[in-house]
Amino acid sequence: MNYKVNIINGPNLNLLGEREQSQYGTQTFEDLKKICIKKSEELGLNLKFSQSNIEGEIVNLIQDSIKNFDGIIINAAAFTHTSVAIRDALSVFKKPIIELHISNIYKREEFRRKSLISDVVTGGIFGLGADGYILAIISMQKLLKK
Ligand code: DQA
Repeated sequence: MNYKVNIINGPNLNLLGEREQSQYGTQTFEDLKKICIKKSEELGLNLKFSQSNIEGEIVNLIQDSIKNFDGIIINAAAFTHTSVAIRDALSVFKKPIIELHISNIYKREEFRRKSLISDVVTGGIFGLGADGYILAIISMQKLLKK
């Protein structure tokens, strides 16, 4: 069976490669998407790679995943630190969820050190750059195979 995984990216991640390269590296969003799809195919996962700058759209993507996906990998970006709505939607998803951050949010400004979603996800990856996406895909496949 091909498991279906939704990678959900929050605000400004569409600007990867252009924004704050010292934090987020030089890889563009489109390149990252291609690499993630390739890795997922290798591992027999069916991947959707989505992005939105709008909080309510991210809530909709999570709600849609409840019926249609086996796992969620989420980089909620700035909404990680502010969104009760995204946290509440994730709480309804009873399958594996991996929280992901490209930068080490615990080494940055005070306001980034608080994640509203960490305690409702299965596990997390942060501070490992864009490679974190590949690691999250590998971990998700292992979680789903169990
Ligand atoms: C981020 C960290 C967030 O604090 C920030 O708002 C982002 C990206 C990361 O991937 O490191 O947009 O989630």
